[in-house]
Amino acid sequence: METTCRQSASGTILLLLQLWCFSFISIAEDIYDPTELFSISCGSSTNFSTLDTRNWTADIHFLSPTTHLSVAAPSLTPSTQQGPYTYARLSHSPFTYSFPLTPGPKFIRLFFYSTSYQNFNRSQACFSVKAGPYTLLQGFNASLNADADDDPSHSDILFREYCINLQDAENLNIIFIPNTTDSYAFINGIEIVSMPPSLYYTDPDEDYTEQPQYVGTTTPYVIENKFALETMYRLKAGDHTISSSGDTGMLRTWDADSKYLVTQSEESIEYKATTNLSFTKKTPNYTAPDQVFRSVRNMGMNDSNNIKNNITWHFTVDSGFTYFLRLYFCELNPRFNEAGFLIFSIFIQDQLATDWADVFLWTKNWGVPVVREYVVIISENQKKVNLSLKMHPNPKSRVSDTQINAIEIFKISNYKGSLAGPNPDPPTQPAVVTHQDSNKKIGVSKKTLPAVMGAVFGVLLLTLFIVAFFLVKRKKNIAVESKKHGTTREGGSSSLPSNLCRHFSISEIIAATNNFDELNVLGVGGFGNVYKGYIDDSTPVAIKRLKPDSQQGLKEFMNEIEMLSQLRHLHLVSLIGYCYESNEMILVYNFMDRGTLRGHLYDTDNPLLSWKQRLQICIGAARGLHYLHTGAKQMIIHRDVKSTNILLDEKWVAKVSDFGLSRIGPTGSSMTHVSTQVKGSIGYLDPEYYKRQRLTEKSDVYSYGVVLLEVLCGRQPLLRTVEKPQVSLVDWAKHRYEKGCLGEIVDPALKGQIAPQCLRKFGEVALSCLVEDGTQRPSMNDVVGMLEFVLQLQLQDSADGNVVWESSGDYEGRTTKDMFSSSHSNSSGLNTKSYGNEESDQLIPQNVFSELEDPKGR
Ligand SMILES: *[C@@H]1O[C@H](CO)[C@@H](O)[C@H](O)[C@H]1NC(C)=O
Ligand SMILES: *[C@@H]1O[C@H](CO)[C@@H](O)[C@H](O)[C@H]1NC(C)=O
Ligand SMILES: *[C@@H]1O[C@H](CO)[C@@H](O)[C@H](O)[C@H]1NC(C)=O
Ligand SMILES: *[C@@H]1O[C@H](CO)[C@@H](O)[C@H](O)[C@H]1NC(C)=O
Ligand SMILES: *[C@@H]1O[C@H](CO)[C@@H](O)[C@H](O)[C@H]1NC(C)=O
Ligand SMILES: *[C@@H]1O[C@H](CO)[C@@H](O)[C@H](O)[C@H]1NC(C)=O
Ligand SMILES: *[C@@H]1O[C@H](CO)[C@@H](O)[C@H](O)[C@H]1NC(C)=O
Ligand SMILES: *[C@@H]1O[C@H](CO)[C@@H](O)[C@H](O)[C@H]1NC(C)=O
Ligand SMILES: *[C@@H]1O[C@H](CO)[C@@H](O)[C@H](O)[C@H]1NC(C)=O
Ligand SMILES: *[C@@H]1O[C@H](CO)[C@@H](O)[C@H](O)[C@H]1NC(C)=O
Repeated sequence: METTCRQSASGTILLLLQLWCFSFISIAEDIYDPTELFSISCGSSTNFSTLDTRNWTADIHFLSPTTHLSVAAPSLTPSTQQGPYTYARLSHSPFTYSFPLTPGPKFIRLFFYSTSYQNFNRSQACFSVKAGPYTLLQGFNASLNADADDDPSHSDILFREYCINLQDAENLNIIFIPNTTDSYAFINGIEIVSMPPSLYYTDPDEDYTEQPQYVGTTTPYVIENKFALETMYRLKAGDHTISSSGDTGMLRTWDADSKYLVTQSEESIEYKATTNLSFTKKTPNYTAPDQVFRSVRNMGMNDSNNIKNNITWHFTVDSGFTYFLRLYFCELNPRFNEAGFLIFSIFIQDQLATDWADVFLWTKNWGVPVVREYVVIISENQKKVNLSLKMHPNPKSRVSDTQINAIEIFKISNYKGSLAGPNPDPPTQPAVVTHQDSNKKIGVSKKTLPAVMGAVFGVLLLTLFIVAFFLVKRKKNIAVESKKHGTTREGGSSSLPSNLCRHFSISEIIAATNNFDELNVLGVGGFGNVYKGYIDDSTPVAIKRLKPDSQQGLKEFMNEIEMLSQLRHLHLVSLIGYCYESNEMILVYNFMDRGTLRGHLYDTDNPLLSWKQRLQICIGAARGLHYLHTGAKQMIIHRDVKSTNILLDEKWVAKVSDFGLSRIGPTGSSMTHVSTQVKGSIGYLDPEYYKRQRLTEKSDVYSYGVVLLEVLCGRQPLLRTVEKPQVSLVDWAKHRYEKGCLGEIVDPALKGQIAPQCLRKFGEVALSCLVEDGTQRPSMNDVVGMLEFVLQLQLQDSADGNVVWESSGDYEGRTTKDMFSSSHSNSSGLNTKSYGNEESDQLIPQNVFSELEDPKGR
């Protein structure tokens, strides 16, 4: 800067320039000076400071005047922590804080101390928090969350940090809403700090190669400023932490990563300040404190185990959200003076993020901080799942090691603008965990327990099958039993646990199907007829009667049944039982209320599925197929994937049916047959399999690709009644796709429902499944990931209000603007007008709360 200034010529101009340069330098003494900084101590009537350099002010000026009912009360047990924890603001009815703010991104920090306050019992705190249009917490049971967090360093303190962006200069309302009339809401401290515009939100002008990447793809994922973020983890390498006063001016705290490391014997190094850091436009000096870039986590440089292991971190997160990971690197090792010294792979959630992380290659020099950003969708699963980060040396690397300086993980708000996750499960035992050692013990027992249970279960299973096998065998020699017995489980097999396969007598089956009455036929397949029947008097089931010309022996049949009954998955139709008697081979399945996918796509009287439903069904079916391919001891290839083999239960959950039958059906009694005889349905058949008669799981991927097109276009794969180029849906769609006009062949019933970028991506996924060369097709796992991304695109687009995909108004598109109110709570998108000023908290009717719970209405 100074040199350019001095090069300019003559007199006053030079002087002015020098002055300007000088002032520029002097402003920059503070790395980042937030334009807005509010640290308020709720319930407190005085101002005070804490050692973390925070200056807390009383909250009364920010409290919205409509909320008279809240009270300030002291905590009954003083906190050992420094902070705004002596007093709290509490209420049995909603209350609002309102902050005058300028546009731009802000941190919102919430401080809670979960304890009993005067007249407020600790366990009754349960509430939601909304900030502008965003839901930060919902039905948040504070004591439950505090008890689940066993970190002794901040006992009973709950801290939450969010980022939100304000479009205009408006008042931001933060509303606290008790869950029910019995519960109350409270808050100890609120902090709002402005941050640089593109610290976390993606700079729209940024080169797209620099934008966050959706893990496992090269697709960029823009962190748009309409999203709210919740900081889940902000960690630096090593055992030390950096407190808010050590941050670059935004009062962030940096925790130690060592708590989250799963693998042992990794080392962390702190580099002394011998090399100055050179910040860049992408990573300016306020990005993170110097110390973050000077501590690095390695695997231990000379360790021969490096090549065998991944260095692994586990981060517990809520499922059903998209997460943004920002990884920090900086090369300070003087030995590494060129690219190629240290190359490693990064895996996020076991998907490859990059196999060529080379910090020196990225930065071309020492001491240049650099970040890499990734986005990963954690699909709805159990409440909490572990997001894993793994790194591994690349075999081409000269030094077998990995390195990283810091990790940040943010949750991204969903299409409803919510960041709220579920409460943790209540602790089963009141075990008090006080220090690290007991932590470790629990870790071990948690690990060994499933293994022991698995082993016990396995042995049990085996015994039961042996027992069942002999029972069936014996029964063949005994006369056919009377129907009276038939309604309960047969003889000794009644000891089979219900989740295992049940044996039915032929008389039970005959009773259930009214002697295979034609009227009960649900479908006719290559393997035989499918009947609807009722067992145990009222449970509906689907009964598949295999064609009687089978040569299959009992032993093979039992083996196959065993295999099929072990396949349990949400997206597979479950086998309930079987019957092998009087030359009959019969399988009994759960009955699926809504029938086949095809029955809701075309040539039907049923109402047609919406686009969102179709996407969710496709994702479900893909998950089911993925499980067939990888979930069992041996790979199971379905061989007949089609829209009539994807069934729907009463909740529209997709279930893949008819799997595994190829191995027990009349035509495929041995493995060799499976690989030589072409089976499948016309229109869905993989051309490669057809030509080479070599069966791989990629044939299922092909057939699934055909189903995707059927779902998109609402027509059969082969239609003889149309013009020649349109007969084959696959050829026609490929042709249209290449011409860039896939939109033309979309099912007219979906008109206006599909977001443009969603259509593009969906087409891309379908056609990738249909490429000629099987090895080039994605795996079902890839397909699941890509379709989840497609759904995300659709939901986010719908949230913009660009597209109306459900006329019933399940979700109304809302813009950010009209959700930030300029005055108080009424305009915040919530119906709070029923809270009059005089209303006492005891009189608030229950239904008002439920209306608040679901502001969209029902
Ligand atoms: C931070 O970076 C700005 C510009 O990038 C520079 O002007 C300023 O001097 C730097 N501040 C410090 C404390 O290094
Ligand atoms: C506390 O600080 C605020 C803002 O800095 C000021 O307006 C207020 O008067 C102070 N209150 C007391 C009791 O000192
Ligand atoms: C708190 O106030 C002190 C003294 O006025 C000031 O030096 C310090 O920077 C303030 N802290 C923050 C975080 O603004
Ligand atoms: C809080 O409530 C629980 C049960 O709801 C009760 O056992 C406990 O004594 C109460 N504590 C206080 C401080 O009132
Ligand atoms: C919060 O969770 C605890 C522990 O499960 C429970 O005892 C309490 O009733 C819950 N509070 C509310 C208001 O639901
Ligand atoms: C909050 O209230 C709703 C009903 O209004 C209830 O379904 C939900 O379980 C409550 N949440 C908690 C955590 O108690
Ligand atoms: C690092 O910066 C300081 C002041 O900014 C300077 O005095 C020192 O010479 C620099 N060190 C190196 C190795 O460049
Ligand atoms: C690793 O090996 C290098 C030589 O290859 C040696 O200089 C260094 O001390 C070793 N480091 C450790 C931690 O064993
Ligand atoms: C490291 O983790 C990845 C992703 O789970 C896995 O594919 C790879 O095999 C692992 N490598 C080693 C050496 O364990
Ligand atoms: C996550 O990983 C940690 C450490 O391996 C483990 O203790 C914990 O049980 C895991 N949690 C879940 C939900 O899998």
